[in-house]
Amino acid sequence: MDSFEFNKIAGAVLGTLLFIMGLGIVSDAVFKGGVPKQSAYALPAAEEAPAGGAVAAAASSVPLPELLAKADAKKGEGLFKPCTACHVAEKGGANKVGPALYNVVNRPIGSVAGFAYSDAIKGKGGNWSYDNLDHFITNPKGFASGTKMAYGGEKDAAKRADIIAYLRSQADAPAPLPGK
Ligand code: HEC
Repeated sequence: MDSFEFNKIAGAVLGTLLFIMGLGIVSDAVFKGGVPKQSAYALPAAEEAPAGGAVAAAASSVPLPELLAKADAKKGEGLFKPCTACHVAEKGGANKVGPALYNVVNRPIGSVAGFAYSDAIKGKGGNWSYDNLDHFITNPKGFASGTKMAYGGEKDAAKRADIIAYLRSQADAPAPLPGK
């Protein structure tokens, strides 16, 4: 056996030994690690919906009066389509699943005769100001926890403003825009 051959064999043996040792170290590390006492990261506590709900989160950086000044009632009429499953906004419209919405801007909350409002809405007090409408449409349950309006909410502030502009137009005398 010349020295070259010997080196090759020795090298192979050494390499194999190193490989086996390596495996041992790795498997030790894997199996001796055991079960960690705590999960590696803290699980977030269940999120409680605060009163006001996602209203703050969905609040736009642009103030509502500015959005309303730019709002488009025609677009709002289109965006109101999902609401028509439960509401009529035209003059003389009847109560459906939800109350008639003609003249809704600035009218007292929960005031349509003959509509069986939830206690949440009946007990709310105040008027449907632009702000209240905006909060309610953002997150109905955040605005009036226990409301029976089964609608998830419109999270896009500009779209809400369009919807509110449409509701405003559905009135004998559209309410003045905020700041006007
Ligand atoms: C699945 C049916 C449903 C949908 C969809 C729905 N609503 Fe309602 N809405 C209701 C019900 C029911 C009430 C009464 C809530 C209560 O008494 O708690 C209500 C109440 C309201 C009120 C309060 C009216 C008042 O007289 O006090 C407004 C404003 C309103 N809805 C606007 C909207 C708008 C805008 C949309 C669409 C973006 C919409 N709703 C979608 C069922 C619905």
